[in-house]
Amino acid sequence: MEQRATTHHVHKLSFILLILSLAFPSSSFELRPSVADSTFLHSNDTAISDFRVLNRRALFQCPDLNPYLQINVTTQGDLSDEQFITVNVSGVLVPSDGDWVAMVSPSFSNVTTCLGSEAYYLQTGDTSILPLLCHYPVKAKYVTSDPSYLSCKNQKCQKYGNNGDCEVRTCAGSLSFHVVNIRTNIEFVFFAGGFSTPCILTKTDVPLKFSNPNSPLHGHLSSIDSTATSMRLTWVSGDKEPQQVQYGDGKSQTSEVTTFSAADMCSEFRLGSIVVPSPAKDFGWHDPGYIHTAVMSGLQPSSTFNYKYGSDAVGWSAEIQFRTPPAGGSDELKFIVFGDMGKAPLDSSAEHYIQPGSISVIKGMTEEVENGNVDSIFHIGDISYATGFLVEWDYFLNLITPLASKVSYMTAIGNHERDYSDSGSWYTGPDSGGECGVPYETYFPMPTPAKDKPWYSIEQGSVHFTVISTEHDWTEKSEQYEWMKTDMASVDRSKTPWLVFTGHRPMYSSLGADDQFLETVEPLLLNNKVDLVLFGHVHNYERTCSIYNSECLAIPEKDKNGIDTYDNTNYSAPVQAIVGMAGFSLEKFPDDAPSWSLVRISEFGYVRAHATKDELKLEFVNSDTKNVDDSFIITKK
Ligand SMILES: *[C@@H]1O[C@H](CO)[C@@H](O)[C@H](O)[C@H]1NC(C)=O
Ligand SMILES: *[C@@H]1O[C@H](CO)[C@@H](O)[C@H](O)[C@H]1NC(C)=O
Ligand SMILES: *[C@@H]1O[C@H](CO)[C@@H](O)[C@H](O)[C@H]1NC(C)=O
Ligand SMILES: *[C@@H]1O[C@H](CO)[C@@H](O)[C@H](O)[C@H]1NC(C)=O
Ligand SMILES: *[C@@H]1O[C@H](CO)[C@@H](O)[C@H](O)[C@H]1NC(C)=O
Ligand SMILES: [Fe+2]
Repeated sequence: MEQRATTHHVHKLSFILLILSLAFPSSSFELRPSVADSTFLHSNDTAISDFRVLNRRALFQCPDLNPYLQINVTTQGDLSDEQFITVNVSGVLVPSDGDWVAMVSPSFSNVTTCLGSEAYYLQTGDTSILPLLCHYPVKAKYVTSDPSYLSCKNQKCQKYGNNGDCEVRTCAGSLSFHVVNIRTNIEFVFFAGGFSTPCILTKTDVPLKFSNPNSPLHGHLSSIDSTATSMRLTWVSGDKEPQQVQYGDGKSQTSEVTTFSAADMCSEFRLGSIVVPSPAKDFGWHDPGYIHTAVMSGLQPSSTFNYKYGSDAVGWSAEIQFRTPPAGGSDELKFIVFGDMGKAPLDSSAEHYIQPGSISVIKGMTEEVENGNVDSIFHIGDISYATGFLVEWDYFLNLITPLASKVSYMTAIGNHERDYSDSGSWYTGPDSGGECGVPYETYFPMPTPAKDKPWYSIEQGSVHFTVISTEHDWTEKSEQYEWMKTDMASVDRSKTPWLVFTGHRPMYSSLGADDQFLETVEPLLLNNKVDLVLFGHVHNYERTCSIYNSECLAIPEKDKNGIDTYDNTNYSAPVQAIVGMAGFSLEKFPDDAPSWSLVRISEFGYVRAHATKDELKLEFVNSDTKNVDDSFIITKK
């Protein structure tokens, strides 16, 4: 009886809400066509999801009849550099599966306060009545991810009748968000209407501040040459004054400080007469703070050192222990290689681009590093998949820091870092969301010849790595082609017997590859007796025979342990492997694979390699099971 009275009351209120919502369609009807247009215009920019195009939604005014509605955040004081915070919505009369909470930063979600944005929106042909959602939410969650929300398990009586019965009952939901220090204030906004017709119900009263927006964070290492006597450390801070890395026994080095601005992002994606602003320049922009970088020199190869970075003004990182790789020409190297890793939220939020395998792969690799099994790491393109939603670089860096702060984290550029039309990339799709390689090069400075020439070589142990950019001109006579030709011809094979060629897009995949790339670059591999070729871009693991011109020139034989062994003592052709299985949703193989394709695995993982002077062994580690699902050896006596 009591329950029925309450339910009846709630129904009356929801009836009023329904009437009010029926009053909208006149305005939402007018908005719909232009909103749909801009969604279409952006449909190829990055991953397609209803969350991704959220910013282009007009914000309807929610009917604000409910006096009980609240959004509260459980924190103690200002935000630390990394934490999980609880966000509660309460006082909800009728919980709906369209209710959701967004984390927005900077802490305004109103386009009329975003200078310049209005003009960008208009450029897209999106003339819908403002305000639109000004800043793309960092992340969002449906309140239904609290299983007690829809069933109103967590209820409160707001109003008692004269007889003491409850007349108005409300429901609550509780959500957890993983927050890393992105320097700018954060607010949480409670929406109704799902991602497609959002309206703001309420938002947190006071924006949450980070207690130290200048914290030195995400320090990661890379090699600068083949001597392994210097290591570069790159980190992020909100402060532009130079800081220091202190290392070894009392050595220190002052940082060079750089950053990039929205003006450095590309925005030339044309669709007929319309220039579509990129996410990077427009709604996906987030201030990266300052990127500090300093080279620790005077180290010994294959040795352990400690460092910390920061300054007395901004504070110091913890003391971290790292290991230098072996010098080029020494006997042994243990490295990890993979592509297409990206990131995933640790709190199961929605984000614009999630790579579901990344967390398990990072966890597996972190264990390898902690066990001392890794001298260096090669991440060969499609790094963070921030693709114009710049705050996601901070989240990505946060995830890899446990690895990248301890061993050299070398990278190659991928389409999702570089490509954009009219921007100098070889492929002209909008895959970088307008980043055009600028954030990538700033966060991951490699020993490259110049800005936007992201190719280099490095020697570690018995291996010479030639790392190219498949996203820059590699045609005959191009600067990069001439460089790779010279680089590979100059390798002293008595010093580094193994020549590994790597980049992002493949030459051989049973899912298809770029024939022109194959025809142009493959002869260089054969002429220079490349042993192993590693690419990503296709999201699985695949290994070939010793291949040239789509034919097997040799096939491996089983050794005494049953492991496929390629004898390169009598060299025939390179072995090629695709290692793009580190995070992005996996791709399945066709039923009828070409005969040169010896092994095909569609599982998340990474490749662990061990090189000595006469043997190069690779193992594909499935990061979910920890099993070695494929291994092969190349020998040279
Ligand atoms: C998106 O890509 C597809 C396939 O490449 C193409 O047919 C389509 O025209 C593109 N759409 C836009 C809006 O660019
Ligand atoms: C909860 O948030 C509301 C605004 O949504 C505020 O008025 C109220 O004081 C907050 N309550 C607590 C306990 O922080
Ligand atoms: C949020 O909800 C949880 C679970 O109901 C509760 O334990 C916590 O105290 C609430 N926090 C706030 C600030 O209301
Ligand atoms: C947006 O900001 C303007 C000016 O500050 C204000 O008048 C308007 O009410 C705001 N709109 C919303 C939806 O918050
Ligand atoms: C080397 O390999 C080629 C084919 O790959 C074969 O014809 C030749 O006999 C081999 N030579 C030796 C010495 O094994
Ligand atoms: Fe790719």
